[in-house]
Amino acid sequence: MSAPIRIGIVGCGNIADNHVAAYRAADGAEVVAVCDVDRARAQAFADQRGIPSATGSVAELLVLDLDAISVCTPHPTHEEVVVAAAQAGVHVLCEKPISTSAAAAERMIEATAAAGVTFGVVFQRRFWPGAQRLHRAIVDGTLGTPMLGHCRVLLHRGKEYYDSAPWRGTWDADGGGVLMTQAIHYIDLLQWFMGEPVEVYGRAGSFTLADSIEVEDTAAAVITFASGAIATLSATVAATPNLGSELTITGSTGATISIGEYPEGSDADVEIWAVPGDEQAVSTLASGGFRPDKSVAEVNASLQHLHRRQIEDFVAAIREGREPAVTGAQALRSLQIVEAVYVSARSGEPVRLAHRGEARIFTHLPVPSEVSA
Ligand SMILES: NC(=O)c1ccc[n+]([C@@H]2O[C@H](COP(=O)([O-])OP(=O)(O)OC[C@H]3O[C@@H](n4cnc5c(N)ncnc54)[C@H](O)[C@@H]3O)[C@@H](O)[C@H]2O)c1
Repeated sequence: MSAPIRIGIVGCGNIADNHVAAYRAADGAEVVAVCDVDRARAQAFADQRGIPSATGSVAELLVLDLDAISVCTPHPTHEEVVVAAAQAGVHVLCEKPISTSAAAAERMIEATAAAGVTFGVVFQRRFWPGAQRLHRAIVDGTLGTPMLGHCRVLLHRGKEYYDSAPWRGTWDADGGGVLMTQAIHYIDLLQWFMGEPVEVYGRAGSFTLADSIEVEDTAAAVITFASGAIATLSATVAATPNLGSELTITGSTGATISIGEYPEGSDADVEIWAVPGDEQAVSTLASGGFRPDKSVAEVNASLQHLHRRQIEDFVAAIREGREPAVTGAQALRSLQIVEAVYVSARSGEPVRLAHRGEARIFTHLPVPSEVSA
C-alpha cells in the first residue's frame, strides 16, 4: 500500500471539521497540519483534534511537505490560497463557491491546470442518493433531454447568522447573498442536470433582512441552456420556517423527476418519479418527520457524510490521476449563473453567457433583445 496522502486544512472555522472527519474516514489520507490567519485558533483546533502542526499563514503551511490542502476560508480568499497551493505543486479541494468573481475562478482554473495539480470544488449535494439517481436517469436516456427545470430554495437565516461573522452579508466580503452562499449548491445541481447555461434573466432584492445585510435575501431567475431548455430558479433565506429545497426536471420523454431536501441538511431522495410506464411517486413531506428548526451548525453536521463521499472521490482522483467529481470548470458555471442574475437584476436586461456552440435541440420564443437586435 502506498503512503497516506498528507493533507493540510486552511481555515479553522465552521466547515473545517467536516473536512477533518471526512479525510479521517477516507482510505489513504492523513490530516497532518492546519492553518488559520488567527494562529491561536489554528493551534486550538489542532490540539483538540490531535493534528500535529498548526500554522498562522498559508506560506508556512505549504512548506510542510503536503500532498493536498482543503480550502475552508471565506469566499474572497479562495483565489489566493488555491493559486498559492498550485504554485507549490499541492493538490487542492476548495469549498464552494469557487470564488466571488468568474474572472478569479478562471485564474484559479488556469493556475491549477498549469501546475498539473488536481483541483476540486466542494458541492457535496452531488452525492445525494436522489441527485445521483436523477443524473443517471439523464445519462441513461430515461428523461430524454432535460427540457424544463425548477429549482426552489426556501431557507431560513436570521440576523444572528449574519452577525456571527463580520464577512457575512456584505458585497465585498461575501460576494452576494442567498444565491452566492446557499442557492449555489442547487444551481450547481441544475447545471449538472441541464448542461451549459447560455442566458440568464433575473431579479433580486432584500425584503426582510435589509437592516442586517447589504446583499439579496431573495432572488428569482429564468435560465436558458445551450440545448434551448429553460429553468426557473427561486431562492430565499427569509422563509420561516426553513422549508429546504426542491429540484424538478422534466425531460423530452415527458418524464418528470423531482428531488427534495426537507429539511435543509437531510439527504434528498426522489420525491416524484413520473416516468411513462414507471410511475413511483414518493413524498417525504407527506410522510411526516419534518423538522424545520435545525440550526446552521446542525445543518453542516448533517452534511458531513456527503463531504466524506466527495473527499473520498478527491483522494481517489489524486491517486488515479483523474478529474474529481466537481472540477473548477464545473464550479465556474454555477458562479456564472449567480453573477448573471446580479447583472441582469441591476440592468433589467437578460445576460448572455459565453457559449462554446453546443447544438440547440429545442426552439424557444425570442427574447426581447433578439427581437430588437
Ligand atoms: N459545503 C458546505 O455546505 C459549506 C458549509 C459552510 C461553509 N462552507 C464554505 O466554507 C468556507 C468557510 O466558511 P465557514 O463558515 O467555515 O467560515 P468561518 O468564518 O467559520 O471560518 C473561516 C476561517 O478562515 C480563517 N481565514 C480567513 N482568511 C484566511 C486565510 N487567508 N488563510 C487562512 N485562514 C483564513 C478565519 O480566521 C476563520 O477561522 C466558505 O467559502 C463557505 O461558503 C461550505
